[in-house]
Amino acid sequence: FMKRRKKWSRYPPGPMSLPFVGTMPYIDFNNPHLSFNKFHKKFGNIFSLQNCWTNVVVLNGYKTVKEALVHKADDFADRPYFPTYEHVGYGDKSEGIVVARYGHVWKEIRKFTLSTLRDFGMGKKSLEEQVTEEAGFLCSAIKAEEGRPFDLRFLVNNAVCNMICSIIYGGRFDYGDEVFRKMVALFENSLSEEAGFLTQFLNVMPILLRIPGLPQKVFRGQKAYMDFIDVLIQKHMETWNPEHTRDFTDAFLKEMSKGKEAEENGFNYNNLRLVTADLFAAGSDTTSATLRWAFLYMLLHPGTQSKIHKEIDMVIGRERSPTMMDQVNMPYTNAVIHEAQRCGDIAPVGLPHMAYRDTELQGYFIPKGTTVITNLSSVLKDESVWKKPNEFYPEHFLDVNGQFVKPEAFMPFSAGRRVCLGAQLARMELFIFFTTLLQQFTFMLPEDQPRPWTDGYFALIKCPHPFKLRAIPR
Ligand code: HEM
Repeated sequence: FMKRRKKWSRYPPGPMSLPFVGTMPYIDFNNPHLSFNKFHKKFGNIFSLQNCWTNVVVLNGYKTVKEALVHKADDFADRPYFPTYEHVGYGDKSEGIVVARYGHVWKEIRKFTLSTLRDFGMGKKSLEEQVTEEAGFLCSAIKAEEGRPFDLRFLVNNAVCNMICSIIYGGRFDYGDEVFRKMVALFENSLSEEAGFLTQFLNVMPILLRIPGLPQKVFRGQKAYMDFIDVLIQKHMETWNPEHTRDFTDAFLKEMSKGKEAEENGFNYNNLRLVTADLFAAGSDTTSATLRWAFLYMLLHPGTQSKIHKEIDMVIGRERSPTMMDQVNMPYTNAVIHEAQRCGDIAPVGLPHMAYRDTELQGYFIPKGTTVITNLSSVLKDESVWKKPNEFYPEHFLDVNGQFVKPEAFMPFSAGRRVCLGAQLARMELFIFFTTLLQQFTFMLPEDQPRPWTDGYFALIKCPHPFKLRAIPR
């Protein structure tokens, strides 16, 4: 095991690998980006690790990550295969999107999903109108708290999940709806199961998956969530009318009805459930965590909050709802949202990539099949780019005239072939939810609450620790 890494000359350097476990004991899996930052300082922008048998290369800093994902886009576009996926239905021609191998089926599904999201509206409300409508429901729910201290997490999660529900199932749920509550709970269970140590361990020791009954026990939450998705799709199929596309599920069913070729391209029932599960997983917690970071920074920086209030009053006023057109006239608010994304750094280690073919980067050799981690945190906090990398400083996104500027190292959605598919929707949700809430409320720290921590905790994404706030109507 120790020799494995030394097979290639010009392979990136890294810490010494131990028998059997490789370099795993050196990594704090609760804060992998912090461990990576230490090795970055010691070994440079490209270093190697070994997770038991798996070779891993970690890329750090804006220049290196951009070179790999943008200039050598194809070489780094694959995803590693994890044996545990099979237990949630991953199979031939049905790999979802997020963890799908780089190839024909992924391309077809990605193209279809992007164009379906883009054409959204489908004769009904546009996506932007739906975000605005949901922001209204969110405001009403916050108003109902009547200025008492509360945790924003549940309500923001509901609003963001509702957006995905509208896209996939053509409708939103009331926040108190039983089915909705069940779905959100099942989904959260399934995510925490996936992030858990046991799942990670089974991926490096897949032989244990053969123990009778073990997979059923370990993946109980994920299975329950997929069963729930099956019920929703079944209900949809019963009312499906090919003449009238209501939502993403209908659009997918229409593709499926095109026959054998479509099935070969990934438009089959099993993939429909995986793709929709992926859209939930990739599109809800990410946006919700970013919004929670943004509100946390507002509590800790009341001066910034007042400046945003002033800009909203000047550009939008108190009556009309914010629209995406307002964004260009609101450089300060826009800068604050971008800085919340940069500083909150919710996907510090992105999603794992895999070398699609033998390749080279900055003189190092990276063989086909190597797992490649893009340390996005090291890009968003790259000392050679950002003036105050570890502070909340909206001026990172403002020029000397107070106009909005976006440095190229702003990469919270990653870059290249696998760049976040929902970035446009996420940007819309962040701007409209954040601006609508600040138009209506002043957010304050409750007097009896401790000052919230700003370091966050990591469970697939980096979330702020739970905190309470008071929302006072303006
Ligand atoms: C992938 C960030 C919201 C759908 C990703 C990746 C990142 C990311 C870092 C990995 C890219 C890579 O592998 O290099 C974010 C952030 C969000 C957000 C920060 C919110 C603030 C969304 C939303 C959706 C979405 C709203 C869906 C509607 C996806 C999908 C992928 C992805 C499907 C996989 C793309 C692929 O492998 O081809 N996202 N995301 N994301 N995201 Fe997002």
